[in-house]
Amino acid sequence: MTEASAHVRVENLRKTYQTRRDEIEAIREVQMEVAEGEFISILGPSGCGKSTLLMIVGGLLPLTSGTVAVGGESVSKPRRDTGVVFQAPVLMPWRTILKNVLFPIESLGLREEDYIDRAHELLEMTGLSGFADNVPSELSGGMQQRVAICRALIHNPNLLLMDEPFSALDAMTRDLMNQELLRIWEEYKKTVLFVTHSIREAVFLSDRVFVMSPRPAVISEIVTIDLPRPRELAIEETPEFNEYVAHLRGLIEH
Ligand SMILES: Nc1ncnc2c1ncn2[C@@H]1O[C@H](COP(=O)(O)OP(=O)(O)OP(=O)(O)O)[C@@H](O)[C@H]1O
Ligand SMILES: [Mg+2]
Repeated sequence: MTEASAHVRVENLRKTYQTRRDEIEAIREVQMEVAEGEFISILGPSGCGKSTLLMIVGGLLPLTSGTVAVGGESVSKPRRDTGVVFQAPVLMPWRTILKNVLFPIESLGLREEDYIDRAHELLEMTGLSGFADNVPSELSGGMQQRVAICRALIHNPNLLLMDEPFSALDAMTRDLMNQELLRIWEEYKKTVLFVTHSIREAVFLSDRVFVMSPRPAVISEIVTIDLPRPRELAIEETPEFNEYVAHLRGLIEH
């Protein structure tokens, strides 16, 4: 990958948290190059620094040393071309679904009228068109998570950061969401960094899987998932898919 072609470039990243009592070294040394339009999963044990890495790339957390660049520009605060989906949907309970989806427009100081059609289009694409005027408590957990995805996409960011977005969902809803996410990704051609604990989910979704070591984190392996696209759930039954799963499990257990 050349200098110009990397969408996300992380070099010599270190992150040490200062707590009142001591220091916690979360990330020791991370290098990462992600091309425009790539789907990358980040896999690693609990507490290894996955969320920390994602929040630094999103400009939501300062780094200790090293550089992080998105689209060739150094990241130090949240960027307009980046959308973030957190582990919990964190919707505003008093706002309608439509108003939740439009929230980034308001906080970016853009004109809401210009984005209403797009909000409806996203809701329709995620199967929520009948719910624009409902409030979050009237939706299931999976539906709320879809609202959070619409919200992350409303301002048309070309980089999507997702931190275990489906971990709270039951297995069936999760399968559906994975398929839906791939559909969105194929349609809108975003670059995606997707944090997960699930090896199968990582293999199903990704072009490449970055495996992180236990804390303090380094990227211990990068596995290219050479499975055909578009991918349907049936691919999980193939020997090729299960070889990737077994290989990654071996790397993580090592
Ligand atoms: N605000 C903070 N202050 C101090 N230490 C922190 C803070 N946030 C995270 N840490 C520490 O940094 C390490 C990495 O945390 P992080 O949340 O990035 O892990 P993770 O890989 O996302 O874990 P999980 O899979 O459980 O979500 C942990 O050991 C944690 O104790
Ligand atoms: Mg985390």
